[in-house]
Amino acid sequence: MSEFWSVWIIVLTVGNILACLWLVRWTMRSRAGEAAQGDVTGHTWDGTLQEYNNPLPRWWLWLFYITLVFAGVYLALYPGLGKFQGFLGWSSGNTLAAGDGSQYKGEMQKAAEKYDPIYKQYAAVAVTDLAAKPEYQEARAMGKRLFLTYCMQCHGSDAGGSRGFPNLTDGDWLWGGAPEQIAASIANGRTGVMPTHAHLGDAKIDEVSTYIMSLSGRNVDAAKAEAGKQVFLSAGCIGCHGMDATGNQMLGAPNLTDGTWLYGGSAGAIKQTITKGRNGVMPAHKDLLGDEKVHLLAAYVVSLSQK
Ligand code: HEC
Ligand code: HEC
Repeated sequence: MSEFWSVWIIVLTVGNILACLWLVRWTMRSRAGEAAQGDVTGHTWDGTLQEYNNPLPRWWLWLFYITLVFAGVYLALYPGLGKFQGFLGWSSGNTLAAGDGSQYKGEMQKAAEKYDPIYKQYAAVAVTDLAAKPEYQEARAMGKRLFLTYCMQCHGSDAGGSRGFPNLTDGDWLWGGAPEQIAASIANGRTGVMPTHAHLGDAKIDEVSTYIMSLSGRNVDAAKAEAGKQVFLSAGCIGCHGMDATGNQMLGAPNLTDGTWLYGGSAGAIKQTITKGRNGVMPAHKDLLGDEKVHLLAAYVVSLSQK
């Protein structure tokens, strides 16, 4: 904040408080030509309702003065007057006056003192045990709370996913369902690269889409599907999805034969995938969360598909 805006804010804030004080003193002053205190002023409403010239109630005045004093004390202790940090040196985050009264830092430190030993204790237990054994119920509950904080916005609160965001409960994995593969997905992130194939042209894309639909047992034009198979074998699809189209977990290339779809299994969705390509990104969480939380999250995710 520049010096000018700082001073400007201080002038506005202090000016407003003084103006409030002045206003209440001004309304209390008696003026010439007014009715004497306790007398009717002569204003009448609704036939019989009369206005008296009475002073403001004392309790109300006191409340008013107290709020003004409160504002003064508050602005002296806490940030509020331009660049002035307040005598307590408090700040909400660690971006302003770092190192002193930062509430965010303090709370994070307290949480770390409380939870770090628990995370450490679970970090020594295998993911499969945390995911399955009854005595680790509480570890899974912690994993779930982490999931609801960091993962829900993409995978859904029940981890059921949605278009473009994989379902984590169905035992069907793009990148592998072994505990260490799941932990790697969470820690390092994943990027699915399905290149655009617009160069094949509409007719071939239509054929290869028909072939792909036939693989999951749908009724399609057999001749078209056969033509599509030739496209599939010759257009490079097998390099990633495999000869039999069952996918490749090293590349995150989905199995195209199982009737589970990341981007939808309609003819339109499949054609769009092939024409425009897809680029699903799972962000890396290692730096944000640390190894121990990733470990707990992996255990929670593994537990979801064990039912
Ligand atoms: C910004 C959205 C986003 C967030 C946040 C996110 N994910 Fe993901 N995640 C994805 C996408 C998209 C994919 C699929 C990537 C692809 O297309 O290959 C994915 C993939 C995964 C996979 C691999 C699934 C498979 O089938 O192999 C796992 C496991 C996973 N996420 C767990 C998590 C966990 C746990 C968290 C929370 C720490 C999380 N994700 C947070 C978007 C997200
Ligand atoms: C370079 C590797 C690569 C090649 C080549 C490739 N794909 Fe893919 N394909 C992928 C990946 C990776 C994904 C998942 C994308 C994501 O996670 O965002 C995918 C996704 C798809 C999907 C969506 C599946 C779903 O569950 O929604 C279809 C359909 C598909 N590919 C068909 C094809 C066809 C047909 C070809 C050949 C014309 C082809 N792919 C070529 C890697 C490839």
